[in-house]
Amino acid sequence: MLLQTPFPAPAGPSSPAPTLSLPADDLVVDLSVYAPQSDSYLLVEAIRGLGDRVAGSRVLDLCCGTGIAAVTAARRRAAEVLALDLNPAAVRSAAANAARHAPAMHARRGCLTDAIEHGPFDVVVCNPPYVPAPREDVDHASAESAWDAGRDGRSVLDPLCCRLPDLLVPGGVALLVHSEVAGIDATVQACRDAGLSSEVLSRTRIPLGPVMLDRRDWLVARGLLPPGADTEELAVIRASL
Ligand SMILES: C[S@@+](CC[C@H](N)C(=O)[O-])C[C@H]1O[C@@H](n2cnc3c(N)ncnc32)[C@H](O)[C@@H]1O
Repeated sequence: MLLQTPFPAPAGPSSPAPTLSLPADDLVVDLSVYAPQSDSYLLVEAIRGLGDRVAGSRVLDLCCGTGIAAVTAARRRAAEVLALDLNPAAVRSAAANAARHAPAMHARRGCLTDAIEHGPFDVVVCNPPYVPAPREDVDHASAESAWDAGRDGRSVLDPLCCRLPDLLVPGGVALLVHSEVAGIDATVQACRDAGLSSEVLSRTRIPLGPVMLDRRDWLVARGLLPPGADTEELAVIRASL
């Protein structure tokens, strides 16, 4: 079932903190798809911060969910935006949002391997799953697949950082958003190890949402959150080739 709502109910790990308006005043959000929230908005803000760089460029939104980041890029006059996600419901939502708001955007089912086949891109944006999870296996049609990312939260991040040189044109830029629980410095370093220059572009602190609260004791026991934490830091990492 498809919903059309200006501020979708949160389905993800964090409480919603809409620090800026959505790129469109109504996005299609399938009920089993990650509803845009704090991390999505931080990424949208970073894409807007690229300014004129997006105009005329080829953009990849990997792990697109509703396609909120892809729509943002398309509305900034990107020449072409590819939005990929492994959840078929996310692809349906993103395709519906492309049809409504962004003719230059194409939504398909796919992962990093598919992205590399369609590359290279001038701009890569990604809000991946990044919450450490006791279980390693993922059902890509499940709601949990939007946030569960292996025991260290890096099952999507590490291969992505490693392959950025294959995804980007020379001079291309990547924007990756995630929480401190997956290791912000680890992402900066992984991008540098892959041969890119990399830095933290922006940060924000938000209250722990339901998924994080549910896992808090386990995360604290593993040293991924400080004892007594009731907030987490989100960051956008910028990497350029
Ligand atoms: C945190 S949500 C982000 C959604 C959207 N980009 C946003 O910012 O609101 C992560 C998304 O990644 C998708 N996903 C999980 N693993 C993936 C993978 N290996 N390749 C592509 N997409 C994946 C999930 O289905 C989910 O839609």
